[in-house]
Amino acid sequence: MENRDIDEIKKDITMSESAIESVLQEKRLFTPPAEFSQKAHIKSIEQYHQLYKEAAADPEAFWAKLAETELHWFEKWDKILDWQPPFAKWFVGGKINISYNCLDRHLTTWRKNKAALIWEGEPGDSRTLTYLQLHREVCQFANVLKELGVKKGDRVGIYMPMIPEAAIAMLACARIGAPHTVVFGGFSAEALRGRLIDAEAKLVITADGGFRKDKVVALKAQVDKALENNSAPSVEKVLVVQRTKEPIHMEAGRDFWWHELQKNASADCPAEPMDSEDVLFILYTSGTTGKPKGVVHTTGGYNLYSHMTLKWAFDIQDTDVYWCTADVGWITGHSYIVYGPLSNGATSLMYEGAPRKSNPGCFWDIVEKYGVNIFYTAPTAIRAFMKMGEELPKARDLSSLRLLGTVGEPINPEAWMWYNRVIGGDRCPIVDTWWQTETGGFMLTPLPGATTTKPGSCTFPFPGIIAEVVDLDGNPVAKNQGGYLVIKHPWPSMIRNVYKNPDRFRRTYWENIPPKDGQHFYFAGDGARIDEDGYFWIMGRVDDVINVSGHRLGTMEVESALVSHPAVAEAAVVGKPDEVKGEEVFAFVTLEGDRIANEDLVKELKQHVVKEIGAIARPGEIRFTDGMPKTRSGKIMRRLLRNLAAGQEVAGDTSTLEDRSVLEKLRGGA
Ligand code: WT7
Repeated sequence: MENRDIDEIKKDITMSESAIESVLQEKRLFTPPAEFSQKAHIKSIEQYHQLYKEAAADPEAFWAKLAETELHWFEKWDKILDWQPPFAKWFVGGKINISYNCLDRHLTTWRKNKAALIWEGEPGDSRTLTYLQLHREVCQFANVLKELGVKKGDRVGIYMPMIPEAAIAMLACARIGAPHTVVFGGFSAEALRGRLIDAEAKLVITADGGFRKDKVVALKAQVDKALENNSAPSVEKVLVVQRTKEPIHMEAGRDFWWHELQKNASADCPAEPMDSEDVLFILYTSGTTGKPKGVVHTTGGYNLYSHMTLKWAFDIQDTDVYWCTADVGWITGHSYIVYGPLSNGATSLMYEGAPRKSNPGCFWDIVEKYGVNIFYTAPTAIRAFMKMGEELPKARDLSSLRLLGTVGEPINPEAWMWYNRVIGGDRCPIVDTWWQTETGGFMLTPLPGATTTKPGSCTFPFPGIIAEVVDLDGNPVAKNQGGYLVIKHPWPSMIRNVYKNPDRFRRTYWENIPPKDGQHFYFAGDGARIDEDGYFWIMGRVDDVINVSGHRLGTMEVESALVSHPAVAEAAVVGKPDEVKGEEVFAFVTLEGDRIANEDLVKELKQHVVKEIGAIARPGEIRFTDGMPKTRSGKIMRRLLRNLAAGQEVAGDTSTLEDRSVLEKLRGGA
């Protein structure tokens, strides 16, 4: 919201209200199957209410009790919460190591030889690592990092395919106290470079390449490009996993093979006792300005919250095979492929690939092959499966499934119903989890043994989370009225800061709705409503962030990429509704005077965005225009552009538009 007119935003909220009118009509209820509830960690709505009440009355005592019983601490904390708004510290003075909680503590139990990670590679290879084996690999790799000069506090970049080494790398960093910053393997060299520079990473861990959708993704070549001419000067060394065996350049003195160093490394590496508030990782995410922000998460609170949310919301049991289809490059992979599951001693499945034309049924093959019990994916994937038809999942045995999850964007009731019937066989509760990179873990979510669900609603706050929908003055809005989703009390895994940018942290999250009577509001950036039964319905972003296939993209980020092309004078990017992806990037572009709009230039600009950011940001459509609709103060009226992109009539007030003829021209297209 940093550059937006409050009036514009207010109009947006009213607009999206009509857009979800259909969802308001949703009255179907799905109660948890009795059989499920009996065996669940949280067995009834009364139990949820009890926990919620207890937590709301004294959040600190609530979390402290769980921290004590659920995690191992080398030393107990002196203070549960130190809240100097907007800066929170949890379990101050406590000593803890998340890699210890994810690995070592399971070795003295029967879980020692339980599968910690089951990995399925894209070309069909696979690997299972027990807790004992994973522990050994992590210890060895932690020693490799130390040998290469990585010390506590040094940042390490991870740019990898979905292979076990990605999880091993993260856990090894955590073990020695080196904050990791994982960069999604689909990001371009430019995007990688920006993140490595901002994080001042000392070392980068990558692979020669990875397999994705029948293609080899040349990761090491991207790293070389990101580092060329010493353009990310903090990076001293690069560690390379051999995955594809394609030829790559290895720079003497800078680049090292993982397997060569790992082979000789000692497996003795005690976990470093970390301060509860030591940084565990920095994860970059899109915001409203052109530059992604480094979301800082710390150790103790994050460990506790990712652990508890997985346990209660996904009802993780020791017999479960649990599969989250995300990539470790996103927060979902951090919290719910690696840290949450392993801290719980669960079996976490990792898949290198993705459904594609040549193998559209690969997900269901994997569910059958490993007897997956809990399956977590994104609405965009579900909608893609709907399009492919029921035959694919029906040709596989999916009877092992007992719970389904969804995340990343609002799920339309139709997709929810299909997921429930075709994948869940009308027997699996669906857990629609609303959360963000910044929240570290699920914030609004059903507890599957307790919560009666409504298709399209993420239901209620997790115990300990005080969520509300308010207006811009912080006053709660009426039932079923659209407003801004806020969190009113600090929680253990909340974002601690924007890396090296506390001003941006304050501005983005804490000042859109100013504090009132000592009450601070964490501004999530989402519109929401609460219905007559207290259910939360997410209405989507209210800032300049769009959601393409569950991936968060800043419109200004894409705009900056476009205007960095010499042909572009001005660019405005909006989300265009898309049946499968949720939204698609739609760019309005004004060219430099002498440039001629044609198909070749469209292709070139799309490719330019891919080069600057990555394939996920590739515009679906580019429309050339002589001018942008602007207010008299020169602000681009994106609301109008959104209407135009969606092929709708321009809605609402256009009285502030400076030059009305621009609108007419835009309607006509290029
Ligand atoms: C944004 C956060 C947290 C993991 C994935 C994305 C949207 C996320 C839901 C949901 C409706 C959702 C929100 C949020 N979102 N989950 N269940 N229902 N919207 O993390 O990249 O940080 O994006 O994703 O708009 O603000 P992220």
